[in-house]
Amino acid sequence: MSTLPVNEYVTQHHSLDIPFVHEMAKITQCMWKSGWDERNGGNVSCILDEQEVAAYIDIQDVKRTLQPAFPVHELAGRYFIVTGSGKYFKNVLDDPAGNLGVLRVSADGEQLEVLWGLENGAVPTSELPAHFMSHIERLRVDPQHRVVIHNHATHTLAMTFVHDLDERAFTRTLWEMCTECVVVFPDGIGIIPWMVPGSSQIGRATADKMREHRAVIWPQHGIFGTGGCIDEAFGLIETIEKAAQIYMLIAHLPIRQKITQQELIDLAQAFGVTPRAGILEL
Ligand code: 13P
Ligand code: ZN
Repeated sequence: MSTLPVNEYVTQHHSLDIPFVHEMAKITQCMWKSGWDERNGGNVSCILDEQEVAAYIDIQDVKRTLQPAFPVHELAGRYFIVTGSGKYFKNVLDDPAGNLGVLRVSADGEQLEVLWGLENGAVPTSELPAHFMSHIERLRVDPQHRVVIHNHATHTLAMTFVHDLDERAFTRTLWEMCTECVVVFPDGIGIIPWMVPGSSQIGRATADKMREHRAVIWPQHGIFGTGGCIDEAFGLIETIEKAAQIYMLIAHLPIRQKITQQELIDLAQAFGVTPRAGILEL
């Protein structure tokens, strides 16, 4: 933690010295290198604690206010770091303040207060409705929830062209692809119909699925993953994407052996997780 007054901290240090900025820069770079965030594809939002923000940023100094698509009373007073709309993940490391922003939802939930970043008139991701609604739903079921990540994971997206979009069937196939899957996402995958991105409607549909799942697939578009920290949300997406990659490698080949339903049940038992009901049939 800094011993300098907060205003001086930001002017005297590179913004990558701020731990939550550094973490965002690292994860966006990693996703871009994975090929899951072409151009401005993908967006990330993390809930931050007031003390963690106040250690590096003057929280009294509101740079400007923005109007959210809808009032977010449930998140009033919460702090977030978010990616900017139209920003390339490739560029975040070189210019964190131009591509990321720290926001506070105003005390009445009606406005967004920009406290840092989003320089040169940048605005938060166009998927903010989906992020905010997902944060609200995940916090209801998990008080430790903090992070929403959206990206265009290649094989997950590819799989939505060739696999049945029934979420139970899709989940079962993913669980069958790698031994660790049922342990990492026993809650299974939610899938919504194809919808126009950036809208409040797709946000609502995504968040409704988030009541029961930590990951939601947007057919022919990408995936949303959530968790208590960036590692958890990203690890969830990575695991789903790996399973989808295996599926795309084998789906057209004759299958000689696979993990059986009984083996998946044994695995879940051994790791102390309860697979979502109605997926494994014996
Ligand atoms: P933004 O650049 O507004 O975050 O949009 C990217 C995206 O992936 C939309 O779904
Ligand atoms: Zn997208």
